Amino acid sequence: MELYDAINNRRTIRDFEDEKISDEVLRRIISAAFKAPTNDHMRDWHFIIVTDKAQAAELLKPIPKSISDEDMDALIRDWDLSDALQQECYRNAVPKQYRMLFDASAIIVPLFGAKGVDILHPESISHLNCLASIWCSIENLFLAATAEGLGCDLRIPLGDEAEHARKVLGFPEGYEMPCFIGIGVPKKAAAVRQKEIDISSRIHYDRF
Ligand SMILES: Cc1cc2nc3c(=O)[nH]c(=O)nc-3n(C[C@H](O)[C@H](O)[C@H](O)COP(=O)(O)O)c2cc1C
Repeated sequence: MELYDAINNRRTIRDFEDEKISDEVLRRIISAAFKAPTNDHMRDWHFIIVTDKAQAAELLKPIPKSISDEDMDALIRDWDLSDALQQECYRNAVPKQYRMLFDASAIIVPLFGAKGVDILHPESISHLNCLASIWCSIENLFLAATAEGLGCDLRIPLGDEAEHARKVLGFPEGYEMPCFIGIGVPKKAAAVRQKEIDISSRIHYDRF
């Protein structure tokens, strides 16, 4: 697949077919992740692939399996989601947070070495470079998955989900997880519509 096709076809996929992905393909996708730009040349990243369903269930235990209509309405209200398409996205995504990971062919947990940086209280934006770098690698992973005919979703860990993941997966202190990734074969028409942006209103020449 051409690069621009992968970029244009990549969508967040939260509904998967019940199909496995070979280790060879997963390794190819993760090797693309390791080609991303990095702040310190070291790419101090690890990727934990979870395919065992008992381990997946343990890992995902803190994630709510559903949300009531009242809580969903409250979330839309409290987060001030006024755009209709944005609301549609959240109404589609929030109830699927558990299933989109559990039903995926694999859960991938990326890890980055935080090197003593207090990510939640950085002294300057450059102290977040290790976090920025792992996100570059995640986009590479998404594009490579798309090029393989696969789809991905992601969840930012909330509450104690990351610390729970540390215990279940056994990754050491000093490594942080930016997100959970679900990867699999997309169900037909699995993606929500993407908001179209008129880029001519977002590109500025010489000054804002
Ligand atoms: C930083 C970041 C955080 C996100 N957090 C979540 C999340 O917690 N759960 C989820 O289902 N999707 C999450 N997403 C995916 C977005 O919902 C998705 O990218 C957006 O709706 C646009 O859809 P598209 O990826 O198909 O273009 C996140 C994406 C990014 C970049």
